[in-house]
Amino acid sequence: MLIITIAIGLCSALTLTQAVPAVGPRPEQPLYDLVQRLLPAKYQKEIQFSLKDAIPTTSTTNVHDVYRITTSKNSKIVIEGDSLSALGAGLNYYLRNSCQVEMSWSGDRFNELPSNPPTAISEANTGSEIIQGSIVPWRYYMNVVTAGYSTVFWDWQRWEREIDWMVLNGINMPLALTGQEYITRQLYLNLGLSLEEISSYFVGAAFQPWNRMGNIQGSWGFKNDTGVKNGFIDSQFELQKKILQRMKAFGMTPILPSFQSFVPSALVQKFPNTTFHEASQWSGMPLENTMVHYVDPQEPLFATLAEEFIKLQKQYYGENVTDHYILDLYNELLPASSEPEYLKSTTKAVVHALRNADKNAVWVMQGWFLTATQFWTPPVTKSFFDGIREAEGKAFIIDLYSDGMPQWKHTDGFYGMDWGWSMINNFAGGQGIFGVLPTVLTEPFAGYHHPAKSMKGMGVTPDGINTNEFLYHLIYDLAWKNPNESLSGKLLLDQFIQRRYGAKKTTPLMLEAWDQISKTLWNITGELTGKVKSYLDINPKLNMEAFGFEPTVPMYDTAVVADAWKKLIKSTETKESNSRLGHRLVSESAVTFTKAKEFAQEEFDVLAREALSFATDSSKTDVSQQRHSSNDLPNASDLPLKAPGFRFDVIDVTREVLLITVLPALHKELVKGFNDTNAAQIVLYGSLIEALILDTDKLLSTHSQFHLGKWLGNANAIAKTIKIPNGKQDFNNGQLTTPANYLEFQARNQITWWGPASQGSLADYASKQWAGLVKTYYLPRWQHFSKSLLKTAISGQAWNQDKFNVEIAAFEGKWQYGTWGQRKGETWGPSPKDDTVEIAQDIFRRWGKLAIRISQSKST
Ligand SMILES: *[C@@H]1O[C@H](CO)[C@@H](O)[C@H](O)[C@H]1NC(C)=O
Ligand SMILES: *[C@@H]1O[C@H](CO)[C@@H](O)[C@H](O)[C@H]1NC(C)=O
Ligand SMILES: *[C@@H]1O[C@H](CO)[C@@H](O)[C@H](O)[C@H]1NC(C)=O
Ligand SMILES: *[C@@H]1O[C@H](CO)[C@@H](O)[C@H](O)[C@H]1NC(C)=O
Ligand SMILES: *[C@@H]1O[C@H](CO)[C@@H](O)[C@H](O)[C@H]1NC(C)=O
Ligand SMILES: *[C@@H]1O[C@H](CO)[C@@H](O)[C@H](O)[C@H]1NC(C)=O
Ligand SMILES: *[C@@H]1O[C@H](CO)[C@@H](O)[C@H](O)[C@H]1NC(C)=O
Repeated sequence: MLIITIAIGLCSALTLTQAVPAVGPRPEQPLYDLVQRLLPAKYQKEIQFSLKDAIPTTSTTNVHDVYRITTSKNSKIVIEGDSLSALGAGLNYYLRNSCQVEMSWSGDRFNELPSNPPTAISEANTGSEIIQGSIVPWRYYMNVVTAGYSTVFWDWQRWEREIDWMVLNGINMPLALTGQEYITRQLYLNLGLSLEEISSYFVGAAFQPWNRMGNIQGSWGFKNDTGVKNGFIDSQFELQKKILQRMKAFGMTPILPSFQSFVPSALVQKFPNTTFHEASQWSGMPLENTMVHYVDPQEPLFATLAEEFIKLQKQYYGENVTDHYILDLYNELLPASSEPEYLKSTTKAVVHALRNADKNAVWVMQGWFLTATQFWTPPVTKSFFDGIREAEGKAFIIDLYSDGMPQWKHTDGFYGMDWGWSMINNFAGGQGIFGVLPTVLTEPFAGYHHPAKSMKGMGVTPDGINTNEFLYHLIYDLAWKNPNESLSGKLLLDQFIQRRYGAKKTTPLMLEAWDQISKTLWNITGELTGKVKSYLDINPKLNMEAFGFEPTVPMYDTAVVADAWKKLIKSTETKESNSRLGHRLVSESAVTFTKAKEFAQEEFDVLAREALSFATDSSKTDVSQQRHSSNDLPNASDLPLKAPGFRFDVIDVTREVLLITVLPALHKELVKGFNDTNAAQIVLYGSLIEALILDTDKLLSTHSQFHLGKWLGNANAIAKTIKIPNGKQDFNNGQLTTPANYLEFQARNQITWWGPASQGSLADYASKQWAGLVKTYYLPRWQHFSKSLLKTAISGQAWNQDKFNVEIAAFEGKWQYGTWGQRKGETWGPSPKDDTVEIAQDIFRRWGKLAIRISQSKST
């Protein structure tokens, strides 16, 4: 105890000066700065913000963060709000409804804003005033693993953009966990642990969230990593100071970490009289990397560490940054005992510890742990929350997965604790159009109306961002809607698409395509489903059908989606593209087609014939593309062909059809060829799969959101900010490990093996449909698969999957340590000469008819 006090006293003297400074003279200034960052100069002059004590409203439900938008006599846009968050949400309302634009991850159209800021304010663009408020005081954002799957390699510029996005979406309670290890490290240094003892407990940069949750510990890959690991932690700490300062400037209440109960093994030896537990083995990780020790929350040591952690945090970041602290005791782990009395005493102890550290502390937790329903039976769950109530603790439960496994329903609104309705939607940051729109449109309001009246927040809590933007934006939009109004998903979607593509450039055919997509891909219900996982990004085998969580067998009508694809592509036809018809792009995949045809001399079946026809005969025109004369077609400039959101969607929908509908059918024919010992069939379908993968990679490469180079490029840029602490150079296998090597390994390992071994249970869990990854990782695996099937068939042997896995593991292992940019054609981002729409049209000409046929044969 003595040691702690002295060390902390020293520390505070050094760091007090680094505290987050107070907000500048004008409280609205951060909003003006945001406008300056995002909008044309004219808007900076014409938009006025005014923070008021209160904005009178007649609503009895929408009473939080109220804004009012009007125009002044001299035609300025005046946004008044009772909080900075209200001002941000008000600005977004104006941008969406009056200006028809929207900030988004895939890019925005702020460069197309009318040169004079529109002055019509209300939704119907007729009235001159709008007043709106939120039904909940809190709008939060992210879950604890988003820091691993999405934000781990962000620099300050990227964070700045995201915080602006948060402001516009009315988010006032973001998770802010960057640099958490800096605090943890100091806590243990103060207790006398050595840097090495602490570092061997920490995990690699891309895996920090799972160490914070007590799932894993220690490094793999570059095992000697004390220097680079700690250098990364230092750089994250610097970033966090900027992040918090900006969040505070916008009046947000960041959710900061607290002591999570998990400790390095070295600490256990130091406190022989304290009860520690060993968490269970997590996700089949090797024992040396899991079974993390944690101190029982009822131990005095827990209270001490909880208090010291928050004290340190206040010293580093400032006294009043927040009173909301996240503490997930049992995320994917089971408590030491299911005795209701034990759990009640535990939560009481946590409340006391947090309150000692900060008398206003609110215990934030993710409700995810409750999805382990076999353990968390109603009486066990109730006693957990009873402990909090009996200790008069304040808590906020993020019901992480309200869109699929809502916990608020069977806990009677978390027994009256404050909680928030969340959509997780995404697992592991992978691609997939997926969601439950009907649920999203109604269930938050059901939660709001629950008699317990304890729903106090709404938010999105995805593992990874950059997908399904409509649904993500919608959640935040709903917070400002009247909870008794029934909403039309179709209308909201149409409006979103118009803002995304440009109202004048959006065609009825595009809206029709999206209506079909929303009725299929965004209407997938059921517990623990998630996006459809593609065959592309899992290790090839003979039978790849999987059901349940992230199934490979689609649970939607693929015919409707294939038809939506056709409509989306048809909606890109212009005079220019029409005249291009017949001049097929010569892609790598076309070469593969030709080779396949030469090899396979026999009569093709209908599937192959259709797939081959365009590659080998450029004079043929797909009947589905036969069309009216060019005169009926629009000019390219009348369509949103260059809008980043449109290009994103064209890729996303094409990707979904090629990989979820077409690839499994080709795989089936490949396996049939193997079953029948038909070498020609194996080669033919092996080549078709190769062509499909090459086409996919080419298309993905045209948008930075679908580019491996971006992920690795960010990791490399962050590496440049890392300073290795003195004398802590790391040597692995005789070679110096640089920050760039280290972070690129982290980046590559997470999206492939997710752990030390090829066949680990999380291998390919965080797979990505990203150009570059597809071509340099998934394609070689598939090529090797077809080749091995052929060899095995010819030799007359049985298929040996284990042997194949061993061969593949050798290739994958090398890939983990690769360095991007060393091979021909590896760039950090899209090439300007590759046009998304042109490539998508070309792909549709070759694969469209086939995709439609497969999808129709499936759905009948
Ligand atoms: C642990 O408890 C024993 C018995 O009460 C005591 O003798 C010993 O000093 C304690 N050790 C520490 C490190 O507190
Ligand atoms: C923190 O907030 C308290 C209560 O509002 C206030 O008294 C105190 O001066 C603040 N401290 C700092 C450093 O801003
Ligand atoms: C809104 O709906 C709830 C639940 O259906 C109902 O209890 C309440 O009276 C309604 N409020 C208004 C203003 O219509
Ligand atoms: C969503 O799917 C359900 C069946 O699972 C169906 O009853 C409902 O009409 C669908 N909703 C929409 C909007 O398509
Ligand atoms: C396309 O542009 C040409 C000249 O730029 C113009 O004459 C024509 O009317 C436009 N067509 C359409 C459909 O807008
Ligand atoms: C291939 O043969 C296996 C084993 O007989 C069988 O289970 C599978 O359905 C066959 N696959 C195809 C596509 O014919
Ligand atoms: C780690 O460094 C030590 C020396 O500090 C060395 O003996 C050991 O071989 C290194 N490990 C690896 C994997 O290179």
